[in-house]
Amino acid sequence: MTASAAPGTSTTPESTPPPAPHAPSRFGYASHLSCRECGQTYDLGATHVCAECFGPLEVAYDLPTITRASIEAGPHNIWRYASLLPVPADVAGSPNTEPGWTRLVRADQLARALGMRSLWVKDERANPTHSFKDRVVAVALAAAIELGFKVLACPSTGNLANAVAAAAARAGIRSVVLIPSDLEPQKILGTAIYGGTLVAVEGSYDDVNKLASELADEREDWAFVNVNVRPYYAEGSKTIGFEIAEQLGWRLPEQIVIPVASGAQLVKIDKAFREFAALGLVPDTGWKVFGAQAAGCAPVATAFRAGHDVVQPVRPSTIAKSLAIGNPADGPYVLDVVRRTGGAVAEVTDEELVDAIRLLAETEGIFAETAGGVTLAVLRKLLAAGQLDPEAETVIINSGDGLKTLDAVASTMPPLTAIRPTLAAFAALESASREAGRA
Ligand SMILES: Cc1ncc(COP(=O)(O)O)c(C=O)c1O
Ligand SMILES: [Zn+2]
Repeated sequence: MTASAAPGTSTTPESTPPPAPHAPSRFGYASHLSCRECGQTYDLGATHVCAECFGPLEVAYDLPTITRASIEAGPHNIWRYASLLPVPADVAGSPNTEPGWTRLVRADQLARALGMRSLWVKDERANPTHSFKDRVVAVALAAAIELGFKVLACPSTGNLANAVAAAAARAGIRSVVLIPSDLEPQKILGTAIYGGTLVAVEGSYDDVNKLASELADEREDWAFVNVNVRPYYAEGSKTIGFEIAEQLGWRLPEQIVIPVASGAQLVKIDKAFREFAALGLVPDTGWKVFGAQAAGCAPVATAFRAGHDVVQPVRPSTIAKSLAIGNPADGPYVLDVVRRTGGAVAEVTDEELVDAIRLLAETEGIFAETAGGVTLAVLRKLLAAGQLDPEAETVIINSGDGLKTLDAVASTMPPLTAIRPTLAAFAALESASREAGRA
């Protein structure tokens, strides 16, 4: 893979150190890109790979003093944290989908069912296209416009496809979305409706991703949000962590369980907690991060258990299609985070994830997509294994909406028989179900 650049940006390492703290620029308080492997620094540009070691780049900041009051005065969407993102200060004024500020739901009935003292669900269904992906796309879109790109593009396991197509429509620019051809119908329709270019590709997500990387090298004015503008895109997931801390009353949970596909969401929620603690916005109380995968695509969980630093790619086979990334870009960094914080990564079967979707729906009225089922099922499994503490305050992420993955649960529902519209028919139905209950 080679580093690609938009016109007018440099891909060569800087010889001088990063600049001193500065006034907000077109990327806010972001100061430079830095290699996660060797620390080499680069100008802010459309670069995502280190020219020295091919490591991934990430956004670094020179942050000013940020107060709780200044954040609380912001809008009820991710732009209340604009000063902690690589976006212009006036980002909220440009047409965008205004994601974020989703509910943090106190899940007392679920906690009781699991024997836990204190449990919260961060419910990402309320985002404009019903998953956390609207957050990362909004940040990628803002950066892509600043970088001079003309088209918003992505390879996707489904939710990102919805978010890119919607955000591009709202911004009045073209979208090009590449998906594996076997995605859920709801996710295909939920992308096509926005009118951009949608391309189904024969193969797995990893095949689609490879094609996107090749296209990104060729199409100079296409911003593939999770490829050539990935450093900016990934920062959007920090807003989940910021919101959790703020919604808990400016403090951090003791444990958090996060779904893992590429691993970016998990790594960035941890980064958010570290930034808030470093800025003095929350007490640095320590937290444990747990990663959740489906057994049919569990390369990070496998590496965790084996004590490896390197993640061996797998060929995915699971109904949790949104998490079906066999070669996760952030896999090694997920391992770093969970090991540093004393967490773990574990996997659950498709049957366990379906049971968990039903449990969350029945106890809290939240219909999660398969990724949310994976996350709750991993919580259950790690509680049973004694790796999660039932007494510690815990947050789980429900990253998407069950209405997009209906087939996962459809066959587990009892058949629905229609009755005639009479009291007698209703009474007959009630007594039949009482009989069935006794049987
Ligand atoms: C609903 C949902 N949850 C979680 C994830 C995982 O995100 P990441 O790739 O940042 O690990 C995805 C990725 O597509 C997703 O669609
Ligand atoms: Zn490097």
